[in-house]
Amino acid sequence: MKSHLKKSILVLVVLLSASSVSISQEYLQKYYPETDTLVLAKLHQWQDAKFGLLMHWGTYSQWGVVESWSICSEDEGWERRRDSSYTDYKEKYEKLIKTFDPVKFDPNKWAEAAKVAGMKYVVFTTKHHDGFCMFDTKTTDYKITGPECPFHIDSHANAAKEVFDAFRSDGFMIGAYFSKPDWHCPFYWWPNFATPDRNPNYSIKRYPQRWQEYVTYTQTQINELMTNYGRMDILWLDGGWVRTKTDQEIIRQKLSADYATFPQSQDIDMPAIVKNAREKQPGLIVVDRAVTGPYQDYLTPENTVPEKPLSYPWETCMPMATSWSYVPHDKYKSVHDLIHLLVDIVSKGGNFLLNVGPGPDGEFDPVAYDRLRGIGEWMKVNSEAIYNTHPVAPYKQGKVCLTQMDDGTAFAIYLADKGETVPPSKIWMDNICPAKDAKLTLLGYGDTSVEWNKVGEGFEADIPKGFQERPPCENAWVLRISKLEK
Ligand code: GLC
Repeated sequence: MKSHLKKSILVLVVLLSASSVSISQEYLQKYYPETDTLVLAKLHQWQDAKFGLLMHWGTYSQWGVVESWSICSEDEGWERRRDSSYTDYKEKYEKLIKTFDPVKFDPNKWAEAAKVAGMKYVVFTTKHHDGFCMFDTKTTDYKITGPECPFHIDSHANAAKEVFDAFRSDGFMIGAYFSKPDWHCPFYWWPNFATPDRNPNYSIKRYPQRWQEYVTYTQTQINELMTNYGRMDILWLDGGWVRTKTDQEIIRQKLSADYATFPQSQDIDMPAIVKNAREKQPGLIVVDRAVTGPYQDYLTPENTVPEKPLSYPWETCMPMATSWSYVPHDKYKSVHDLIHLLVDIVSKGGNFLLNVGPGPDGEFDPVAYDRLRGIGEWMKVNSEAIYNTHPVAPYKQGKVCLTQMDDGTAFAIYLADKGETVPPSKIWMDNICPAKDAKLTLLGYGDTSVEWNKVGEGFEADIPKGFQERPPCENAWVLRISKLEK
């Protein structure tokens, strides 16, 4: 009896520790390499692009609350309702469709600002977890083009289409954020029951027909997006809890203090979704976020930068302010910090998907434009060290990050401290050295050669006085090395 008890405690401890892998570590999953050559080619193009814009926009932007989450009953600080009654709150939330009228919506302006910042791809929320469609779906009226939404009469009402067209014509790769869970659809949250958490509020095993309706609903919407919106490059699927789960996993979740109070396998038929999508969009990159398996062409560390380079394609997604969706007077990261994030990510082989939440009127906060311009000023001088590069050891050493192009040209990017406005008189690295006949120059300082010396296994470059006195940019300075020692 005693040993039986011991054994069960041990099993419980093992199960609990297995399930407590923190969300931020999800990117450390096993990666399933893609084999479709068209997808591989697009992935390569995407990896060279490095820098993208994510936008979370919906009716929730009117309240300046966290996107969707406040209609989910889970007891998390960031999804608490401001009214005491859940039912009243949800009712008011769903009525937000009646006042959503973003009359200043001008995606060309967004595309222009993103382009100036040096961004090369866009990912736009076509539908977040609350189920409100930012595209003209035929499956529901809960959409920006729905009769209840005042904006539906606007000639640009099909927001997703307008965004994709504007960015595409500015040369961007196009990504559709799409939430697999849908908290408005009666086939996901059946109005017949209360909704205890983010999951379907009924037993899929008991009501397989209802779930099948949900699968069809989801597939129809994705199909619309893949058919009627021109060339699509990325299908960015969020809501990783909508996935198949083994019985063992379900037991583990039930035992843990995890969020899932109604864990069950939610098989949305990803093989069919991906097959159909790629029939319409050959080479489409699919990102089934946080779901280990073959439909996650790249991994998406959220709001975090991995310590070290990862051996598979990856992208950090991060809000420019503190929230994904618009919050009035939100605190935006500085240009300095954003540039450093971009450099850090790129030197580790990742992409940076930076989020701006448009306001209810269809405009970005002026601070967001200011940050995009600031990044753009730096990129104008230094983008050569960012695009089309791959990581090269030692990646980062003290204040210097390293990137390299396929032709061997390397870039040592010196990250200035806050307030450090004068470039240092020397930039050095250990354990890595230019080739004997390498030419060293500084980006933004013409073709002038920079003197350098081998020091031990490393090197030291002398930064010219002229560059120190009149640096071509702020926040980070780049030494271009034509060739590294073999
Ligand atoms: C988090 C948020 C979700 C958001 C996503 C973007 O998962 O919960 O609302 O869309 O991040 O990466």
